[in-house]
Amino acid sequence: MTIKIAERGRISPFLVMDVMRAANARAAAGDDVLHLEVGQPSTGAPGPVIAAAKLSIEEAELGYTEAFGLPELRARIADFYRSRYQVAVDPARIAVTTGSSGGFVLAFLAAFDAGDRIAFAAPSYPGYRNITAALDLVPVPVACGAETGFQPNAEMLDRLDPVPDGLILASPANPTGAMIAPATLAGIIDWCGDKGVRIISDEIYHGITYGAAAETLYGRDPAAVVINSFSKYFSMTGWRLGWMVLPEDLDRAVECLTQNIFISPPTLSQHAAIAVFDCLDALDDNVRRYADNRQILLDGLPPCGFGPIAPADGAFYVYAGIGEFAAKSPELCAEILRETGVAVTPGTDFDPDQGDGYIRFSYAGSSADMRSAVDRLSLWAASR
Ligand SMILES: Cc1ncc(COP(=O)(O)O)c(C=O)c1O
Repeated sequence: MTIKIAERGRISPFLVMDVMRAANARAAAGDDVLHLEVGQPSTGAPGPVIAAAKLSIEEAELGYTEAFGLPELRARIADFYRSRYQVAVDPARIAVTTGSSGGFVLAFLAAFDAGDRIAFAAPSYPGYRNITAALDLVPVPVACGAETGFQPNAEMLDRLDPVPDGLILASPANPTGAMIAPATLAGIIDWCGDKGVRIISDEIYHGITYGAAAETLYGRDPAAVVINSFSKYFSMTGWRLGWMVLPEDLDRAVECLTQNIFISPPTLSQHAAIAVFDCLDALDDNVRRYADNRQILLDGLPPCGFGPIAPADGAFYVYAGIGEFAAKSPELCAEILRETGVAVTPGTDFDPDQGDGYIRFSYAGSSADMRSAVDRLSLWAASR
């Protein structure tokens, strides 16, 4: 008698994690691997965060917290909205989560029913497609190319039939770094308001921009769920901490779901994260390093034969076409890792339909690694 395995559990892998495993195996075998695959700052959390964590191990009891997190942390997050975006957020609206990943699960469960249709740009973060599918929602990728700056607009959304129930936005986005222009964003917000579409705004790359700063959707669309994380700008990936700013109508549902699914977000990380808001100068130094790294890749990749390159307005990614290379991106990425030791992610992770023609380079590492990566790729491309 065979025992059933759920269909909804059969989602695609998060390919970048598979690439990271292959890269780590090569590094363990003694190869000099450059990690341009994973979207993770190579700098750890700032010193005061570590000190706060040590202190809390010694002095805090580290039991469960309230489902929405420590009141002091929620108050610091609310302060951050005041200073960063000049918007007032009631700390009661803030739910601390287990990474933004935990936030997505809670937001989707609270806002949507099985069978509801959730639109998002293609290419985009694989979790949008894979988490929605695992929760029996219907992922609706909206193909976005160079013509629209790799982001959707109201006209494109208006062509969707049926109208989706939800729309995930990310500006800056992964894998492109592309941002949504203010007028386009205003058009999308209006369209969603007219059609009754709930926006989930993934603001995880806010703070990492190279031109205009990103605008939060909080306060601009009363139904929107704003999701953010300590993983990227705050350089705390492994601490598994994020937050949501919730609309009033979802507040209690998310609280009950959190209580039952997660109980509370990680307590040690919450104590530590309170300290990160005093470290913004160090975090902005990281952003300056990303800006240097971005320039190294923008200058160095086209002569190797990569391009065109999506608008890298923010985040720490370059999403580049594979040009004349006669291979699809998964095979090309495997070849690049094998021949050069540079680990990069195939575009198919972000866009199963069009991603064959793209590679994502993450520049969250050191500038020395970026320079070495360009040197190795130049030699490889020349000898190919
Ligand atoms: C756009 C985007 N959203 C969400 C996440 C999930 O991050 P975390 O769960 O660490 O907050 C990532 C991770 O790379 C991402 O790129």
